[in-house]
Amino acid sequence: MEISTAAKFKGRIIETSDEVTLAVLEAMAQAGSARLREIAASFVRHLHAFAREVGLTETEYEIGIDFLNRIGKATHDYHNEGMLFGDAIGFSTLVCLLNNGKHGATETAAVLLGPFWRANSPRTQNGGSIVRSPTPGPELFAECEVVDVAGKPLDGVEVDVWQSSPVGLYENQDDTQADMNLRGKFTTDASGRFAFRSVKPSGYPVPTDGPVGEMLRAQNRHPYRPAHIHFLGFKPGYKTLITQVFVDDDEHLETDVVFGVTRALVGVYRRHHEGEPPAPGARAPWYTLNYRFVMEAGDAILPKPPIK
Ligand SMILES: [Fe+2]
Repeated sequence: MEISTAAKFKGRIIETSDEVTLAVLEAMAQAGSARLREIAASFVRHLHAFAREVGLTETEYEIGIDFLNRIGKATHDYHNEGMLFGDAIGFSTLVCLLNNGKHGATETAAVLLGPFWRANSPRTQNGGSIVRSPTPGPELFAECEVVDVAGKPLDGVEVDVWQSSPVGLYENQDDTQADMNLRGKFTTDASGRFAFRSVKPSGYPVPTDGPVGEMLRAQNRHPYRPAHIHFLGFKPGYKTLITQVFVDDDEHLETDVVFGVTRALVGVYRRHHEGEPPAPGARAPWYTLNYRFVMEAGDAILPKPPIK
């Protein structure tokens, strides 16, 4: 059903269910922006086709509208239920994979942003700690490098790091953590490296007290994400790298509730229980993570932070 077909509908009163679709397509074709016309027309065609395919009842339509409204009501400065919904139906990962790694043709290090990135993480010196209030769990020492697609080290990359505590909560979800605990902004040195000290992250359930939680329960899905650390790399001339590095021994690697795990993103979090610790006073066992990030050439556009 193309817009050109819809044009023939002009000036008529709707008589059949097929004609509703034509009338809507025609109305939306008046948009000044060609891209808006394309997106709106495709959205309406697929949405109407979906209702026809499943024979959507009026009661189900009401449930759907109520679900949508409640996603909006559950969203506020410190929680983004809309982002969580997009993640939980795999839509974020789809859009990510369509836009990275040569438009999905090759493996990519990019993955969904998730609902917990905050702008203005504290600038932290290379090798510094992002533990800003007492936080349980084994210590983690991460040494990472950032290179371009040819393997050349990239200096001056601003790298945001954020993670949940070993209790499974981000600081914005947990009054017992200091503001910006387990968040930091690093800059790669001349050899493209940055390092930081933290604690080993744990897996966590996504918030389930809203409509997304209801959906997961209705579908008999668990709410867990495998443990991971988020990274966002920013450097003019390079596509902003949004990614997560997953803990390799996590039981939920294959069933991430938001479908974020891809093979390239499983990191090696190595456990050490003897020998010289990487820093004085580190308690055994500690973990180390070494990871190499690749940034593609492109536009350095920052996403809108999902929360304040
Ligand atoms: Fe996360």
